Amino acid sequence: MAGLIAKEVLEEIRLRNDIADVIGRYFQIQKAGATFKALCPFHKEKTPSFTVNPQRQIFHCFGCGAGGDVFKFIMQIENVDFMTAVRMLAEKTGVVLELESGPDALKSGEKNQLFKIHSEVTDFFHNNLLQAPEARVAREYLARRGIDQDIIREFQFGFALNSWDRILIWSRAQKYPPELMEKAGLLIKSDRPSSASPWYDRFRDRVMIPIRDEQGRVIAFTGRTLSTDAQTAKYVNSPETPLFRKSHILFALDRARNALVESREAIICEGQIDVIRCHAAGFKAAVASQGTAFTEDHARILRRYVDTIVLVFDPDHAGQEAAIRTAGIFVQAGLAVRIARLPPGTDPDSFILKNGAEPFAQILKAARSAIEFLVDLNLEREDPHSEVGLRRIEKNLIEFLKLAPSAVQRDLMIESAGRRLQIHPDDLRRDLKDAERTFQRRAESPSDSKLQPALPSLPEEMELAFYLAAHPELAEMLDAHLPLHLIQDTQARRFIEAVRISRQEQQPLMSVILERDDVDRTLGRFAADVLSRPIKSTGEETSPQEIVEGLLMAIWRRELKRRRTKLEQTLLKADLDPDSRHEVETEIHRLTPEIKQLTHWQSAVKTIAAHRAEE
Ligand code: CTP
Ligand code: MN
Repeated sequence: MAGLIAKEVLEEIRLRNDIADVIGRYFQIQKAGATFKALCPFHKEKTPSFTVNPQRQIFHCFGCGAGGDVFKFIMQIENVDFMTAVRMLAEKTGVVLELESGPDALKSGEKNQLFKIHSEVTDFFHNNLLQAPEARVAREYLARRGIDQDIIREFQFGFALNSWDRILIWSRAQKYPPELMEKAGLLIKSDRPSSASPWYDRFRDRVMIPIRDEQGRVIAFTGRTLSTDAQTAKYVNSPETPLFRKSHILFALDRARNALVESREAIICEGQIDVIRCHAAGFKAAVASQGTAFTEDHARILRRYVDTIVLVFDPDHAGQEAAIRTAGIFVQAGLAVRIARLPPGTDPDSFILKNGAEPFAQILKAARSAIEFLVDLNLEREDPHSEVGLRRIEKNLIEFLKLAPSAVQRDLMIESAGRRLQIHPDDLRRDLKDAERTFQRRAESPSDSKLQPALPSLPEEMELAFYLAAHPELAEMLDAHLPLHLIQDTQARRFIEAVRISRQEQQPLMSVILERDDVDRTLGRFAADVLSRPIKSTGEETSPQEIVEGLLMAIWRRELKRRRTKLEQTLLKADLDPDSRHEVETEIHRLTPEIKQLTHWQSAVKTIAAHRAEE
């Protein structure tokens, strides 16, 4: 992590994290005149002596003397160092920290080169577009589409000439090895080289739009053809590269950040040109994915900035389906979703171009909540007056309602759907409960692991997480003795993975965890829980290593018992042929003594090794 963060950046983070809001997210604080009061989280007390002063943006406890600014509060309550606290608060409000060092340092040499190449190629394409005689068609094309000089300069539009080796020649002149250019996604290696060089340009005869990361660095391109020929792909995009992970990148996020934080609302379009048009028309909170489906990662990124998403999708059938699917992803991340409806056959670009900004603002304003949209869509397709129709509608709604993680959010949606459908919300509530019970039952059958609900951590896995956090060097025992998939509890598994990574890459554990956490901070909470457990005295005779050995054996015992039970169930099947029966019985007979051996480390090591060899 960079040693120093610019003072202005720190100030910006401080400004965007009102201390009363931040503390209020951890526990209740009571307004008392100009300040707030609460029971101090840092010492035991019965009457509140913990105060928060929003004017001065500080907290202070008259009981234990704890106090400081918002960073100090996070450090103490999350038990993290200053940098981690800064980072946590930065993430919440969308301030981007430049954090490159440590384990990334090795890779960052190459990454920096890739950044440099992208930046230079952006200029190269841009100059082509502005000056090259062969780019006249492209200039005319953009002019025809109403993409004026201001937009071209702001978004650094470019042009890839109609040539198989223009970039290849350029890269030779710059002394960039073709392998590196391939890694950048700009050159492709042919399997059947016909000419002198096996390499050729990916982007040819296309208007080029640079794609930037959150910090505004170009990391990829999308290229639009000028041709109307249906055989030619309309867009060609950079492939996934070390810089460009499509599931993480939102087009124009670098330009949208301020508007997002200010309005707490993101406008989601389907295409890059749509986003560009929105920005040019003053809708600066517009972003898009890269023509790919939205992912949980996208939702997580946006949740750092906004509470609400407005989807502006094509009103045709496919567009509506896409809108519902996308809405589901954002709802699942706890975001409120509204869906705007454009006239058929238009997209934000063509609509704004034809009608101007104000009518588009009206369309955004008229966006209905996702649940209303879904009800209306269903009402168009089903007859709510027939019993079958109503059932189908309910079923579709429930599928969607189930996605909402918070009860409050669900309730709002249920009320609204009930009103629109003119049925009693309680009916929906009851059906939702029933549906969840079946869901739960399905989830409990071990065959369907994808649907497993979050079970409370199994004690030995919690314990293991705890000891490995305290003695990270012991994590190396896992390589030999415990494949991580045997850890059933997802959070414990993710936590233990994080311990190993933090050790391997010599990064602070908390920053590894923050990097891998999801929107709900499930992992962070798990970590807080594990790390705040008091260190139990192990007694002099038991070392941490022996404790971990014991835990590994316990987990293996559980696993082998599980396998044995499964085999025993197989034996109950009537149609088992004698050969298989014999095989299963032999296996059961082998497992039973092995389970017993898993109580002494010496013999356990052998049993474990045998099973690992079979995996
Ligand atoms: N897209 C893509 N590859 C294609 C077609 C589309 O990657 N062959 C992606 C692009 O990101 C595009 C988005 O899907 O912006 C939406 O596609 P579409 O609606 O067809 O394009 P528009 O954005 O409307 O582009 P244009 O206005 O230039 O036709
Ligand atoms: Mn379009």
